[in-house]
Amino acid sequence: MTSAVSPAPVFLKDYLPPAWWVDTVSLDVDLRPDGTVVSATLAVRRNPEVAPGPLCLNGAELETLSLAIDGQSLSPSAYTLGDESLVITAPPERFTLETKVRIQPDRNTQLSGFYRSKDGYFTQCEPQGFRRITWFPDRPDVMACYTVTLHADKASYPVLLANGNPVAQGDEADGRHFATWVDPFRKPSYLFAMVVAKLDVLRDTYRTTSGREVQLGIFVEPGKLDQCGHAMAALKKSMRWDEATFGLECDLDHYMIVAVGDFNMGAMENKGLNIFNTKYVLARADVATDVDFENIDRVVAHEYFHNWTGNRVTCRDWFQLSLKEGLTVFRDQEFGADTHSRQTARIREVRGLRAMQFPEDAGPMAHPVRPSTYVEINNFYTATVYEKGAEVVRMIHTLIGKDAFRRGMDTYFARHDGQAVTCEDFVAAMADASGVDFTPFMTWYRQAGTPRVSARGSYDAAARRYTLTLTQVCPPTPGQPDKAPCLIPVAVGLLGPDGRDLDLGGGRTTAILQFSTHEQSFVFENIDAAPVPSLLRNFSAPVVLDFDYQERELAHLLAHDSDPFNRWEAGQRLFGDLILANAARLARGEAAECPAGVIAAARTVLLSDSDPAFIAEALTLPGEATLAERMAVVDPDALHAARNALARALAAGLEDDFLALYERLAPVGAYQFDTADAGRRRLRNLCLGYLNELDRGGYRAQALRQFEQADNMTDQFAALATLANAGGDEGDTALAAFYARWQHEALVVDKWLAVQAGSRRDDTLAGVERLMAHAAFDLKNPNKVYALLRTFGGNHRHFHAADGSGYRFVAERIADLDAINPQVAARLARCFDRWRKFDTSRQAHARAALAALHARPGLSRDVFEVVDKALV
Ligand code: PHE
Ligand code: ZN
Repeated sequence: MTSAVSPAPVFLKDYLPPAWWVDTVSLDVDLRPDGTVVSATLAVRRNPEVAPGPLCLNGAELETLSLAIDGQSLSPSAYTLGDESLVITAPPERFTLETKVRIQPDRNTQLSGFYRSKDGYFTQCEPQGFRRITWFPDRPDVMACYTVTLHADKASYPVLLANGNPVAQGDEADGRHFATWVDPFRKPSYLFAMVVAKLDVLRDTYRTTSGREVQLGIFVEPGKLDQCGHAMAALKKSMRWDEATFGLECDLDHYMIVAVGDFNMGAMENKGLNIFNTKYVLARADVATDVDFENIDRVVAHEYFHNWTGNRVTCRDWFQLSLKEGLTVFRDQEFGADTHSRQTARIREVRGLRAMQFPEDAGPMAHPVRPSTYVEINNFYTATVYEKGAEVVRMIHTLIGKDAFRRGMDTYFARHDGQAVTCEDFVAAMADASGVDFTPFMTWYRQAGTPRVSARGSYDAAARRYTLTLTQVCPPTPGQPDKAPCLIPVAVGLLGPDGRDLDLGGGRTTAILQFSTHEQSFVFENIDAAPVPSLLRNFSAPVVLDFDYQERELAHLLAHDSDPFNRWEAGQRLFGDLILANAARLARGEAAECPAGVIAAARTVLLSDSDPAFIAEALTLPGEATLAERMAVVDPDALHAARNALARALAAGLEDDFLALYERLAPVGAYQFDTADAGRRRLRNLCLGYLNELDRGGYRAQALRQFEQADNMTDQFAALATLANAGGDEGDTALAAFYARWQHEALVVDKWLAVQAGSRRDDTLAGVERLMAHAAFDLKNPNKVYALLRTFGGNHRHFHAADGSGYRFVAERIADLDAINPQVAARLARCFDRWRKFDTSRQAHARAALAALHARPGLSRDVFEVVDKALV
């Protein structure tokens, strides 16, 4: 699909180093009622390694007031000023550039650059927001030292923050005040931040192992200090963990976190001044769930870890985004595994990967971990760059082991501290520290698509030999019709008939096979009986693995595998296969079936002495979006019905067990967030959910009781979610009570919106349409859009409704939103990624909705890219 105004793509192969360096930046930012005036002084110097050329500065929505070089106003012939570029034709070798612009943060609804939110003004500069503040070579390989002075009305905006250390502050005329901050570290412009607001602050200190004292501060909306304690504890835990695990200390005197309710993403690692979505800071037992508490730990850690992986060593260009994001996600995953439960952490990561990244990798927006082209970089903050990127780092870790990985990290920092580098630089550090040749591994960075590995085993009793043969294919993706094989680390164990691991030689029970060609056989000797293979233990590579397991083999693995991930995986295969078989039966007009063996296997897990959190994960059925990837033509109604039917069959078969467990797991003391308690709550709420699959008033009353009596949001919300998906009036009662109680807690209102948008009730779309007009909804607030609209877009049955109503509704909302916030609109547009997997009638509806969107004049580059690729 092309359009008259198709925006031009950017290519990795076109990268050129900058012709000019900026050594220092001094900003004076003056907030006035008619706009904010930004005066910038840049010390600029020619890059001697590059052929001389003009100085190109980026800008967007800047009202240019003055331009001067070395104190002399620029003559009109010396420069070309466009809407988005300022080109200074032939500046001297070294000079001072002074620019003065006016910006309008009150009108900035994109939430990129400098913008207004409820309690003041905030910035978001990654990836290209700094150009919306001042003229600048806005690219990550230009690193400078920043000094920032802020001026604003003191009563309205008592808090003035920027990166680094405060060096001066004081009052000015007319009730105004100022503050000056100096950041001693060179940084790319995307890590710039400033805040001018009225906020409360929770302060603390942290002493690093080497004795440096760091001042910590968490700034939040006035009145919310009692919701900051968990984030502060998470920050200190993260700091300790990075010292212990990677020997990395905090290099700052001040580490500040600012929470803001209007934010496009989760959080941002600006040097010394992180800005967070309130969702990943605020928590208190009565308003945040166990999942929220855990997510806060992870996100606080993630942003803190960026200080080394991202800030001290940054990206040369935006194609290298996964250099910092994949690595930092891997680090936050490991932190989460060490602080909570390693096995449930891994299960949740893989569940997320399959629900989000696998569909992305199979759809029109598929791209490699390191993309080679993009139209709008904001569209590439994806599950592939983040989550698959983390899997790629994890595979390196698996291939070379923990100690060599640590040496590789040390090498990486020793070589590249203070630099802007590439993914190759990272892998080279790992290769040199381990002595392993990573050349064959680099396919993972270059190639999109999820490899499909097929395994088959054959046992030779006479020779006591088990042979495992693996083949791999990777389906074509846009722009990459032919795929090379990947080097796939396949962790394998063999279970004997008694369920125990067989010795694979030297007492080893797991072998890491290095599978790197189209087809390869691996031989295991001295195997006494036909084993059941446990393949891809701990999910050792981001691939789809096919093996023709029998139901009893899966039950065997589910009961005995020493690898907890593969125990879980066996259950997912068992349930997934059955749901898909039943979906086919239902589509043919036959009834769903549930073999007794499946119920028995589920009971074995339910009654096992495993960790409750693990049992809950094992009995959570695979999601519809994940299962849909396995259908040739998706029938969302049959899939939905088949999944519900299995849930109901399990509930009927295990009713007494669920009920007994629900009672046995009743809370003993007051709520506290810790891993063990959270696991028990999770399992107990799973039991409540299953019991309500039976559609009985008694169980609904039980859920309503829990809803009313819970002393914490985890249990209250779990009961609400159960009721909101059940028949009967209890759901409406609970929803109304919930809103009445929590309407003033924005993040709780988001939960209320999401639970309705995700509901399986028949009238969900009508409910969402009604909520669009509710006082609780606001199209300008990303969290509200994600809660209501993106949740609806992920509601598999209702978004893909046969009459096209879901598609039309969401496409129209994307159009409305695009005029306000293109980044968020483009994220919402990704709901359409998999439209081609559905039947021709649904496809026609989806195509029409997308085509209408595509044809709209003035579509943003963000939405254009997503829709254009979807229609190709
Ligand atoms: N860099 C942020 C993170 O991963 C994410 C982000 C990207 C935030 C772009 C805002 C804008 O932690
Ligand atoms: Zn990140």
